[in-house]
Amino acid sequence: MAFIDIHSHLLPGLDDGSRDWDMTEAMLRQAKEDDIGCIIATTHADPARKEFPLAKYMETLEKANLLSRQLGLGVTLYPGAEIMYADSVTERLLEGNRIPSLAGSRHTLIEFYPGVKYDTILTAIRRLAYIGYTAVLAHIERYECLYKKYDRIAEIKATGAKLQVNCGSFVKKPGFFAARYLDKLLTDGSINFLATDAHSDTVRRINMKEAYDIIIKRRPDDGWLFQGVGLGIGEPSPIVTEAEGKPLIVAP
Ligand SMILES: [Fe+2]
Repeated sequence: MAFIDIHSHLLPGLDDGSRDWDMTEAMLRQAKEDDIGCIIATTHADPARKEFPLAKYMETLEKANLLSRQLGLGVTLYPGAEIMYADSVTERLLEGNRIPSLAGSRHTLIEFYPGVKYDTILTAIRRLAYIGYTAVLAHIERYECLYKKYDRIAEIKATGAKLQVNCGSFVKKPGFFAARYLDKLLTDGSINFLATDAHSDTVRRINMKEAYDIIIKRRPDDGWLFQGVGLGIGEPSPIVTEAEGKPLIVAP
């Protein structure tokens, strides 16, 4: 079974992820070892502070896909971004501050500072929905306002937003409370995606297979959590398409 990793910082020179092309190559090889067939390269975007370098991003993505093909790895990269939410994000998106959605789908990966207020999360979800996007909340296990009030998870799920958890949170042997929280999320069926959020080939490396092995032992039917189910990969996103006048999906 080939996995789909919807959250990864393996493109070099764009954020705090891969340092250079050697590291990107090592990460692509790790992806192959982990049986990952598709990666959404979610470079950090902080549109409240600076414009996303779309042209440079697309050029780097294309080069990384070429590298993967040359190495014969069978790992395909798709466009995406991990967007740091601020109230101005949706305006910026509408104004044409161009940021790739997740693999051209109607989903965007958004993150917050760990101490974010619950209301800010709800506002973000609503504002993105208003312009036609489903929010995928990155590494939700980080947010204090959620793990301290578990009922809020159900409220968030009721909005239609989707929840992503990092593979590392299961792999790193979480402490008692974190383990209990992760277990609840799993058994409630609240998690939609497990993704690596890989930043390098060493620390915060690709660890999808390891997380899969841990989870599948406890929950044999939950392999789909590693499959990016529901993203409709390949479907073009109007914002991205309008931005460049052509679909930005990179063919396998
Ligand atoms: Fe990330």
